Amino acid sequence: MLILGIETSCDETAVALYDTTRGFLEGCTPRAGLLAHALHTQVALHDEYGGVVPELASRDHIRRLLPLMREVMERGEADVHELSAVGYTEGPGLAGALLVGASVAASLAFGLGVPAIGVHHLEGHLLSPLLAENAPAFPFIALLVSGGHTQLMHVSGIGQYALLGETRDDAAGEAFDKTAKLLGLPYPGGPALARLAEDGRPGRFRFPRPMIDSGDLDFSFSGLKTAVATLCARHALDKATRADVAHAFQEAAVDVLVAKCVAAMERTGLERLVVAGGVGANLKLRAALDWAAASADFDVHYPPLEFCTDNGAMIALAGALRLSAELRDSRSGALRLSAELRDRRSGALRLGTDPSIMHAASPHCAFTVRPRWDLSEIVGS
Ligand code: KG4
Ligand code: ZN
Repeated sequence: MLILGIETSCDETAVALYDTTRGFLEGCTPRAGLLAHALHTQVALHDEYGGVVPELASRDHIRRLLPLMREVMERGEADVHELSAVGYTEGPGLAGALLVGASVAASLAFGLGVPAIGVHHLEGHLLSPLLAENAPAFPFIALLVSGGHTQLMHVSGIGQYALLGETRDDAAGEAFDKTAKLLGLPYPGGPALARLAEDGRPGRFRFPRPMIDSGDLDFSFSGLKTAVATLCARHALDKATRADVAHAFQEAAVDVLVAKCVAAMERTGLERLVVAGGVGANLKLRAALDWAAASADFDVHYPPLEFCTDNGAMIALAGALRLSAELRDSRSGALRLSAELRDRRSGALRLGTDPSIMHAASPHCAFTVRPRWDLSEIVGS
């Protein structure tokens, strides 16, 4: 089956094409199924505003999405009529941005008579380490560290996610971004701060490690950002000082993330940790986790760097895994998908393995977007 994946939740328009016959075969790694992927980042568009402007993001997704879809189909050497499903990010994210991807995906799926599969953005991130050469087996602990989320999840299988702990205030990526702003760095702050930190002198400043000894698996990052703001107000921010602050901030954030991961591994007794989301691209975090994993005797898996931040491949893969799971579970041949298209008058499920059912369906085509959506809500779905 060929699945197209569409990601438009924030400031990246991304598309990918996934082939389950290549990716899910016995003896293959899921990476083998990824036929093509393409991405347009809006970083330059939002740069002058110091952060994402939602309306501009939506408009740019409209401009970029169809050309990217064409490019991916061409590079994957596939025809749109060969698609078995269209996956799209249903949430969480910016409402207008999500609507662009969802409406294009649902329209294409409706036209082709195939299912549109709404994918949880964090489920995409969480499964993205499967795209690495050494894909982790279930079960594992996932550290999700993005611009909007910091969570530790117990992952038993596709759709089986239990929340172990999460941030009580800012997300880790948000703390990187806000601290970067305090240091006068351009958006997006995380990578810029990490680069500046390389020039910082270890030991000049030390920030608190919030909640590191709290005894639970929750996080808090807003106090760390406030500590940086207080220090910045007291020092002349010459280039060397800014680098020292960046270094000390990164050390503190990484220490907390690593300590909570080690605690989660100890508490659950699992053997594999996966790290996903934009902050997972941070090389200091990776090095510290690798060291901790070697000391505490667990394995740690990351997505390839290009699939750490938002991308279409993770949505295509998550859509493909969901579709395969649904097909396996389905007794009657009818698909139970989160983005199911229903005939509004009768409420009848109009999705089927036979595409002719779709063509006979009512012209009403419904889809959902969920700007706020908790990953643990899809447990067992
Ligand atoms: O997963 P992602 O692309 O989008 C969300 O779903 O939020 O994550 C973006 C976040 C931003 O906060 C960005 O600053 C951060 O990931 N980020 C990094 C690095 N690369 C991206 N933070 C620290 N170090 C990095 N190398
Ligand atoms: Zn993301």
